[in-house]
Amino acid sequence: SSPITVPALARKKSRGEKITMLTAYDYPTALLVDRAGVDVVLVGDSLVMEELGYDSTVPGTMEMMLHHIKAVRRGVAHALVAGDLPFLSYQVNADEAVRNAGRLLQEGGANAVKLEGGVAIAPTIRRVVDAGIPVIGHIGFTPQSVNQIGLQKQGKDAQGAEQVMQDARAVQEAGAFAIVLELIPDDLAARVTEELEIITIGIGAGPRCDGQVLVTSDLLGMRPERAAFKHVRQYAQIGAEIERALSAYREDVEAGRFP
Ligand code: KIV
Ligand code: NA
Repeated sequence: SSPITVPALARKKSRGEKITMLTAYDYPTALLVDRAGVDVVLVGDSLVMEELGYDSTVPGTMEMMLHHIKAVRRGVAHALVAGDLPFLSYQVNADEAVRNAGRLLQEGGANAVKLEGGVAIAPTIRRVVDAGIPVIGHIGFTPQSVNQIGLQKQGKDAQGAEQVMQDARAVQEAGAFAIVLELIPDDLAARVTEELEIITIGIGAGPRCDGQVLVTSDLLGMRPERAAFKHVRQYAQIGAEIERALSAYREDVEAGRFP
């Protein structure tokens, strides 16, 4: 079937069908996520933590993102490929944002970009959209601001909820076609979804969003040593299975059973 487009995602929402998004950072994972029929493959800057081992997404660079987006692009035939703009690639000014967003499409082969922030970043979103680049917003808990906001749910009190509502409206008004709602109360995510016309995609935001996103390595249980987040459902324990296979190989070689 033909590749998924931004208008096709909007039609999906208007038919009341749920939209699915998962991350991929490499070619083999991209092949599997695409084959699973997921609508949007996100090369999230979570790769800075999950794939490169840093303890936040703040060290992410354009070079890291492009390297991984190119690999994912080669593995995806059907899904829409979205790439995250890394920290400091769009916050300095709108000119840099347009240039860097454009690079994710022109060099990386992405179909859309995602960037974090609400009211404060809306004028930048407008400039990127006006350049012909589809934008996904991202509000609530925004990992690139972890040093400022800490690792916690957003929009919990009335004032926080009002900020989330204003951010959501600003992102829509600026021309984004979708918005990720991360770690906000279920009821607030439902309110945002009710009020906005664009697609809402939740993570740790309850079931009443237009779509859902998870970090693929989390749902696969890639890191057995790490306790699963509350918002994640583990569909496999791949990390433990890989560790078992690697140990079996080592034991076989040491015991003379392989080759
Ligand atoms: O970087 C990422 O993987 C993300 C998703 C969790 C939305 O931004
Ligand atoms: Na991200």
